[in-house]
Amino acid sequence: MSVSPTASEILIRNCESLDELQACVLLQKEVWNFTDLELIPQRLFVVAKKIGGQGIGAFDREELVGFAMAIPGNHHRHLYFHSHMLAVRDAYRNCGLGRRLKLFQRDDALHNGIELIEWTFDPLEIKNAWLNLERLGAICRRYVVNQYGITSSPLQGGLPSDRFVAEWWLKSRRVETTLREGHHPPVNVECRVPVPAEIYQWKADSAMRARAAEIQLQNRALLTRALADGLAVLGYERDAHGNGEFLLGRWDEDWSYGAERH
Ligand SMILES: CC(C)(COP(=O)(O)OP(=O)(O)OC[C@H]1O[C@@H](n2cnc3c(N)ncnc32)[C@H](O)[C@@H]1OP(=O)(O)O)[C@@H](O)C(=O)NCCC(=O)NCCS
Repeated sequence: MSVSPTASEILIRNCESLDELQACVLLQKEVWNFTDLELIPQRLFVVAKKIGGQGIGAFDREELVGFAMAIPGNHHRHLYFHSHMLAVRDAYRNCGLGRRLKLFQRDDALHNGIELIEWTFDPLEIKNAWLNLERLGAICRRYVVNQYGITSSPLQGGLPSDRFVAEWWLKSRRVETTLREGHHPPVNVECRVPVPAEIYQWKADSAMRARAAEIQLQNRALLTRALADGLAVLGYERDAHGNGEFLLGRWDEDWSYGAERH
């Protein structure tokens, strides 16, 4: 199926019915290909909405082609959203739908008095790092080793599920500048950590997986040390060959609920 790159007729809105929440579960299955035991069930999507979380869909006419799901969390008595899943159907990717779903999440959060949305992402996923750090203006100050154990999703390639925690401080100068001007304020880079473009291929191919595991271990060591030294991940560069590079420096804003110090 081919999709217009503007995809402007695709509507982003809250999911309203049980059927729409069930469509999120089916799309989750399609995107991650988890075993049924690891799938987030419809009842959690329902609960998320009932308790003040989010279940947001991208709709091509009646058909759900993307979703974002978030649950409320609490850091030292500060309410925030933990965005647990963001997915866009393969044929609809790279048209800005992922970003539009996140912007809808942001508007809804601000409307409800929430200033922070967090989510986790795999530090080996070059595309997600680009979207989160450069297009949305999130930062990372926490690296979690093997957060979920080894999952059944082929996207994980059988590797430990290491995760960065993305912090999206919705009213920060960094986020407002990124959304207004299309780039974040300049970063004084103190450390760079590369991710090779071949990582996707290496994760997907059992004969090459050891190479991906080596990069993961190497980057885990570099990133955890830099974060422990007080640096934050503030940018991401990608080159013409698809290689990525995390840019770390000191964040000059003081948004914090203290979670990154524990
Ligand atoms: C992550 C995901 C939701 C993004 O959705 P999307 O609709 O493709 O996102 P967008 O089009 O808004 O943005 C994608 C950006 O990544 C860029 N990109 C695409 N492939 C890339 C790559 N290999 N390396 C770097 N950047 C890449 C696109 O160019 C675009 O940036 P731009 O706007 O500056 O051009 C989608 O890819 C997905 O469902 N992935 C599988 C599930 C997943 O990983 N979810 C997130 C973690 S929970």
